[in-house]
Amino acid sequence: MSVKVKCLNPIAACGLDMLDDRYEIVENTEDAEAILVRSAGMHDMELPDNLLAVARAGAGVNNIPLEKCAEKGIVVFNTPGANANGVKELVVASMLLAARDITGGINWCKENKDNADVAKEAEKAKKAFAGTEIKGKKLGIIGLGAIGVIVANAANRLGMDVYGCDPYLSVEHALNMSRDVTLLKTNEELYEMCDYLTVHVPLLDSTKGMFNKEAFDKMKDGVVLLNFSRDTLVNEEDLKEALASGKVGRYVVDFPNPTTVNLPNTTVTPHLGASTQESEDNCAKMAVSEIRDFIENGNIKNSVNYPNCDAGVCPTEGRLAIAHKNVPKMLSQFTTLFSKDGVNIENMVNRSRGDFAYSIFDICSDIKEEVVKELEAMDGVIRVRVIK
Ligand code: MLT
Repeated sequence: MSVKVKCLNPIAACGLDMLDDRYEIVENTEDAEAILVRSAGMHDMELPDNLLAVARAGAGVNNIPLEKCAEKGIVVFNTPGANANGVKELVVASMLLAARDITGGINWCKENKDNADVAKEAEKAKKAFAGTEIKGKKLGIIGLGAIGVIVANAANRLGMDVYGCDPYLSVEHALNMSRDVTLLKTNEELYEMCDYLTVHVPLLDSTKGMFNKEAFDKMKDGVVLLNFSRDTLVNEEDLKEALASGKVGRYVVDFPNPTTVNLPNTTVTPHLGASTQESEDNCAKMAVSEIRDFIENGNIKNSVNYPNCDAGVCPTEGRLAIAHKNVPKMLSQFTTLFSKDGVNIENMVNRSRGDFAYSIFDICSDIKEEVVKELEAMDGVIRVRVIK
């Protein structure tokens, strides 16, 4: 029987092509065992009982009820880094567009398309669109994940003085970052010194509204604030005041909403950051390969609500994958049950993340239905899957 996959948004064909005849794309969400999604909202959705996994082809997961999924044993994945280059290129373009009134100049030319003296008049008109260069300006990057680090490197190559802050900077990202980038301990230090600020953090309860009056007050007068993460990271009432007073010179935001599209000195783009052929292809391929590894091997890579857990391809007769609560005695209960049934464990991987944990057992015999039933009945067990 094939595994039923529902796409809640259009997913690039090169990713869907990676689903072989063991998978089937279905129309009805109720039938789905796996969901592929971009930005469709899932918070009000009834989660099907058969649903095993959700893969977000993108980075932000604020459209998915992560906790609710975890409670039901539904593993949620995202595709970190897969669209980072697309976002980086738009951030760089946006800094250049904020430094000079290039769009104003382009519009002037369009308005003068029937003017025979356009060449002469352009020489007079152009002073209205003149600006500054980004070389030598200070750029502050809040969040040095997959996107923040490559924005830092690109800006450094363009001659900017680059500063960054990220209390959770990973070794991998630190190793990828140019040594010319100066790390600061607090966002406040960035606010005080930077001409441009760009934010690359996820939307969480702790980051929602982080750009508020208190933060704006600490920023340099006329700062350019770039937001390619999520609109609600910014307190838009406080931003209105900061724009009116000139504290924030320009706000560049990739999230149109009834407020942002009406703000003065603001450039709004329609969530274009990852809308490139390459980013869409990369995200789709990564999302599908995460789903396949999970369905076929029980492995978890790049999950945002369960721990990563990789046991490779099963070399033995049978494999069991158990999603469970991260509470004492779970493992001892599993192993006691296996030993009671004479089941020999060949390999075992157990990982935890917050309140949830995940265990993979490779065993050298078939898995009996009664054992599965006993596991399912244990307190703290959320879902048991017989992978093989
Ligand atoms: C992301 O979260 O990856 C970006 O907002 C792009 C997208 O949603 O496609």
